[in-house]
Amino acid sequence: MTIRILPPAIANQIAAGEVVERPASVIKELLENAVDAGASFIDILIERGGSRLIEVRDNGVGIDKSDLLLAARPHATSKISRLEDLSQIDSLGFRGEALASIGSVSRMSIVSRTKESNTAWKTNVDFAGHASDVVPAAQEVGTTVSVRDLFFAHPARKKFLRSENTEFAHIETVVKRLALSIPHTRIRLKHNGKVVLDLLPSQSFAEQQRRVAKVLGGNFLDSAKYFSTEGDGMRLAGWISVREEGWPNTQRQHFYLNGRWIRDRAVLHGIRQALSNMVVADSQPAYLLYLELPATEFDINVHPTKQEVRFSEPRLIHDFIYSSVVSGVTHGVQPEIAQIRLQQDEPRESSHLRPSSAFKSAYPHSKLGSSQVSQYQVRQQLRAYEVMANSDQKQEKSVTQVKLGDPIAQLFDHYLISHYQSNWYLIHIARARLALAIESFNRGQSESQPLLIPETIQISHQHHQAMVGWVEHLQAYGFSIGALSESQWVIRRIPIVMRYFDGAAMKTFIARLAEEEQTASREKLISVLREDQVALCQLTTEEKLQLLANCQQYASRLTKEGWPDFIVPIAEDWLATQFVAS
Ligand SMILES: Nc1ncnc2c1ncn2[C@@H]1O[C@H](COP(=O)(O)OP(=O)(O)OP(=O)(O)O)[C@@H](O)[C@H]1O
Ligand SMILES: [Mg+2]
Repeated sequence: MTIRILPPAIANQIAAGEVVERPASVIKELLENAVDAGASFIDILIERGGSRLIEVRDNGVGIDKSDLLLAARPHATSKISRLEDLSQIDSLGFRGEALASIGSVSRMSIVSRTKESNTAWKTNVDFAGHASDVVPAAQEVGTTVSVRDLFFAHPARKKFLRSENTEFAHIETVVKRLALSIPHTRIRLKHNGKVVLDLLPSQSFAEQQRRVAKVLGGNFLDSAKYFSTEGDGMRLAGWISVREEGWPNTQRQHFYLNGRWIRDRAVLHGIRQALSNMVVADSQPAYLLYLELPATEFDINVHPTKQEVRFSEPRLIHDFIYSSVVSGVTHGVQPEIAQIRLQQDEPRESSHLRPSSAFKSAYPHSKLGSSQVSQYQVRQQLRAYEVMANSDQKQEKSVTQVKLGDPIAQLFDHYLISHYQSNWYLIHIARARLALAIESFNRGQSESQPLLIPETIQISHQHHQAMVGWVEHLQAYGFSIGALSESQWVIRRIPIVMRYFDGAAMKTFIARLAEEEQTASREKLISVLREDQVALCQLTTEEKLQLLANCQQYASRLTKEGWPDFIVPIAEDWLATQFVAS
């Protein structure tokens, strides 16, 4: 890894801006450097919430003596060297700016040793990023960056720092976020001499899950399902909470793109939309998801903090995330089962990871559900199911989860057959859709989604006024309808719960409403919906999965009242009676 100063032609292409806002931002940059250096152990020392000392020591590849002088200069990096590199970044850093920015607002020193060198070298960095003379020091292979007295010469910025505890809490958040993307790396965090966090390297999927539980809290995994989906060169894997009551805040929402924690609107929307029928009002979903994409499919050079991204095909990503999460909620498996299924085929990664690609396969690639299962695994699984069934019974008082399982076939267009373990079900598709839509309207849910192609409808002049009244009323349920002319209207958005209604049926439904003489009301809306003959067609797999997931939620809410009128469990006894011997 040779460090070079980027020529202006490249430096000018890089999203510029200040990244050192507070101690946590320093930690983020130093940790990312340690990961890029392939460290298998990262030791972090913090004093006074980071205002006195932030020190990150790693056992990565180290920096050459000659490069030490350059490392903290602006635009100095070993991670890219050509303009083309910007379109396929596979390291966390690439701007060559972090050490320079940190050095300019603190007293920074770097001690580093490569495996080729028989001693470590140390330098102090001044405000301009110039390193003092390099002197020998004692240290194993790796790098230690010490940042003292952050903002000591910037009283105005220092004033914005919060209390020691608050700043440390931000640091902890950053450390935990990173820890979830590098399960094979040990991370230790000390504050004022006390170990606050010590995450040992995970050698197996079970240990990775233990880390997840330690970082996100055990109750996250209790209610989570693990899944992994692949398609079109993309892969999404991870855990998603299926807890009915949701979560009070956004702290358990983690999304990684090729190992980098990001926040992106298309991603958030895809996840939220997939969970729209699960997450109750005023609560938050919880998830820990890893998306892997070829580096050429997105641009991370958008914002200096490198937490925003520009996808080349945002719609494709959105839809992939949406359908993967929908299927993950239905087909994902409880963490215990994932553990059993994965323990045999998980890749054994060396605990010392290669630089740059360190995070690439942080989580196993096997496709749960489709992998070959041995006799031994089957026995183990059954045992695990028993354990879970027992613990399920204990929780029964709060919520009884109905499981409709996997869709098997669509029968006579109108019915869906599904099975879960030894239970089989027949679901009346049209009735299920209707019941779900009505329930959502009754609950006043208004989540909506745009139509890919807006539908236009003709409404005769005499019904214009009625239509105006309905348009306003329908807005509350998630419809967005506008007038193009006196007689022509366009449907732009529809409630999510109606997304699998046929386009023609949707138009007939709206036109029928306009013909209603009574004023717009929810009762009228529901009664027209009931009359409506929803055109049925073969459902796609995604539609079946979504419908089953929604029916499952619906039925779970009604467990005390028995099965809703659109689900018929197929009992073996009944089936036997159909084959009376002659
Ligand atoms: N812990 C480390 N181990 C090995 N080399 C390091 C370490 N920290 C920094 N370096 C070297 O110093 C260079 C400059 O680091 P710096 O963080 O400023 O820039 P960068 O990581 O290349 O890009 P960015 O500004 O996006 O973080 C790196 O490219 C790397 O070669
Ligand atoms: Mg860096």
